[in-house]
Amino acid sequence: MSIRIIGTGSYVPEKTVTNDDLSQMVDTNDEWITQRVGVKERRVSVSETTADLAVKAAQRAIEAAGISAEELDLIVTATVTGDSLCPSTAALVQAAIGAKCPAFDISSACSGFLFALDTAAAFIARGGIRHALVIGAERLSRVLDWTDRSTCVIFGDGAGAAVVAPGDNYLVSHLFTQGNDDVLSIPAGKGNSPFYEREEPVYKVVMKGQETFRFAVRRITDDIRLVSDMAGITPDQLKYIVPHQANSRIIDLAARKLGIPMERFVLNIERYGNTSSASVAISLDELVRSGALQPGDLIALCAFGGGLSSAACIIRW
Ligand code: ACO
Repeated sequence: MSIRIIGTGSYVPEKTVTNDDLSQMVDTNDEWITQRVGVKERRVSVSETTADLAVKAAQRAIEAAGISAEELDLIVTATVTGDSLCPSTAALVQAAIGAKCPAFDISSACSGFLFALDTAAAFIARGGIRHALVIGAERLSRVLDWTDRSTCVIFGDGAGAAVVAPGDNYLVSHLFTQGNDDVLSIPAGKGNSPFYEREEPVYKVVMKGQETFRFAVRRITDDIRLVSDMAGITPDQLKYIVPHQANSRIIDLAARKLGIPMERFVLNIERYGNTSSASVAISLDELVRSGALQPGDLIALCAFGGGLSSAACIIRW
């Protein structure tokens, strides 16, 4: 038993922050950000919480699936910027949309949506679940150092979601973890314990850009080749690849290594920046709503990020 995606949705907050806006805050400029990262603007929440973003994306996915929230049997949310450690973002979504099912979060940074999708697939394979809601939602603006030009220009806020049901469209998947807190991390910040003696790092994104870059290119190419092998196809049979939107140069380099034209990679980093676990979900929703997918099309989703982690899967639409 596998799964099929029966509805997708996404939501980004209204406020747009352009590269020119950022150049008023840190020593940067539109040309550097456009050429080195590929972002022109990103959305930033001014009052909505991570759960608020997740709820709006979830409601759109549920509507697209043509079901009601009471028909959900599971909610899995991927996030590294939940509003609280407890309750989970998934639990807050459950309450807000009027669902009654079990709900929990998973954390795998930018690979999170794919880890959550695979988790839902495993629950569905176990049986007894008619519909699962899978969400990726982030308010990264909260954990950025807005004085650090090497990170604050990259990220944005947003959420994406998919409703999945039993089916046979999720052909193969691969999850990868290479435990490491040195390359890319978001420390949880100073705790309250009067007994704890170690220095606590500050709660913000810390990234070694070039190491992350090399990891990303290697993982996209290795993961796409691996899942293609597992599915018994060659990568050039993929109609679209929906990659994590971290840096357009990463995608460009991976595309060249794979020998797949850039036009087949779904790109929206220019408008939203890197929204971590929301990025693949938002991109998938935009691809679905564009009408470009035909039944039977083979697509791959792939992502990489903190953990270090990466993931890929192939779906027959
Ligand atoms: N504006 C202008 N100049 C800048 C900026 C900026 N915003 N940021 C850095 N620079 C400067 C640097 O100071 C450096 O100057 P110097 O040569 O005088 O020292 C120069 O630009 C080059 O800096 P590099 O760090 O070498 O730039 P690079 O080309 O590697 O680009 C970047 C940096 C964009 C971070 C890139 O390495 C990258 O995209 N890495 C991957 C990031 C990623 O994929 N993250 C996703 C995972 S996030 C997650 O999982 C939560």
